[in-house]
Amino acid sequence: MSRTPIIAGNWKMNMTVSDSVDFVKELAPKIADYNNVERVVSPTFLSLVAVSEALKDSPIQVSAQDAHWEASGAFTSEVSVSMLTDYVDYIIIGHSECRAYLNETDEKVNKKAKAILAAGLKPIIAVGESLEQNEAGETEAFVSTQVTAALDGISAEDMANVVIAYEPIWAIGTGKSASGELANTIIGGVVRNTVRDLYGDDVADALRIQYGGSVKPANMEEYMSQPDIDGALVGGASLKVDAFTELIEIASKVKGN
Ligand code: 13P
Repeated sequence: MSRTPIIAGNWKMNMTVSDSVDFVKELAPKIADYNNVERVVSPTFLSLVAVSEALKDSPIQVSAQDAHWEASGAFTSEVSVSMLTDYVDYIIIGHSECRAYLNETDEKVNKKAKAILAAGLKPIIAVGESLEQNEAGETEAFVSTQVTAALDGISAEDMANVVIAYEPIWAIGTGKSASGELANTIIGGVVRNTVRDLYGDDVADALRIQYGGSVKPANMEEYMSQPDIDGALVGGASLKVDAFTELIEIASKVKGN
């Protein structure tokens, strides 16, 4: 089963609108030719329109970092999926920072996933355990529960548009990355096998699953060499043109099809 790798830069709360546009104008020509890899940038809501305009003739895709499942209404501070459809291809949901700081529950992740798929967009669903859960040996059960809850009621057909990102919380922004082998064990053994139990082999084998957590050029090859890891969700290293370009180059070389 050949799965097109997907490398997404999650910019989190970084870069002004003009910095974002300058950044993608510098980045786009450098990564334009790696067409065997999906390349995605995820700016803040404020920069999405300008970044999507700046990338309109480029193969680089755009993602939002969140979205509300309702189309409109009294939800102060929120942005709905339907408001994003003209500007983005992907929407990241369930990020551990949103789960920790914005009370994003499994139930909300599921509602968001369904709204995103109904709008013809693609969710990148982030899952991952805390250090305490990891040390208590709860990783497998916890991650499997998150995956199952996020996908509740989603059809096998819609699964073709789903990406899952396994991001152990203890590896995010800490410089402490999971080894390639460990990440592959959870991604293949837990995430993909949970999807296998739910949907069968065809859906499980076609699903793209990213690793995230302190991914950088120095460890990218280790992740991309693993059979079940289909790309990366990158924070810090996606904020530097050269580092992000290098990540794409490595993914293209090691994993591109
Ligand atoms: P870092 O790559 O900075 O560890 O962040 C990972 C992440 O949270 C991507 O969503």
